[in-house]
Amino acid sequence: MASYLVLNGPNLNMLGIREPGVYGSVSLASIEARLHELASEWNVTLECFQSNHEGELIDRIHAAYGVHSGILINPGALTHYSYALRDALSAVSIPTVEVHLSNIHKRESFRHVSVTAPIVIGQVAGFGPLSYELGMQALHAHVRDNAEVSRS
Ligand code: DQA
Repeated sequence: MASYLVLNGPNLNMLGIREPGVYGSVSLASIEARLHELASEWNVTLECFQSNHEGELIDRIHAAYGVHSGILINPGALTHYSYALRDALSAVSIPTVEVHLSNIHKRESFRHVSVTAPIVIGQVAGFGPLSYELGMQALHAHVRDNAEVSRS
């Protein structure tokens, strides 16, 4: 059975309260509840984790090795500068999809750079909470397709 890890970085625990004009009014708990619904429809296991600490996220990525078949990640501001997070994702080489609530490409110029984007399957940005659902659908399709390729 496939198993996915959903990681959220700094300040994403404040969704619903934090800059609602940019990030909307939906809480992280509601987003995770919706992802759990999808996971049970697809019969996959889902683990969700949020941290404001880079090292804790890296520890979770390392612990995912050999356990999870895919990672969905919103690294928050770490997206724009954390080579350590990027290296952790490369180290485990678990298929990963990056998501953002906001369209980082039409915001401040420092947000246009994602140091993780070059090592993930793809990025979904700008659709609010729907970015997570779309990202998880893309991750699931990728993991399923690759499982079929390795069986054939
Ligand atoms: C974010 C975009 C980042 O630039 C920002 O630092 C966040 C949230 C998003 O989901 O739109 O914390 O990743």
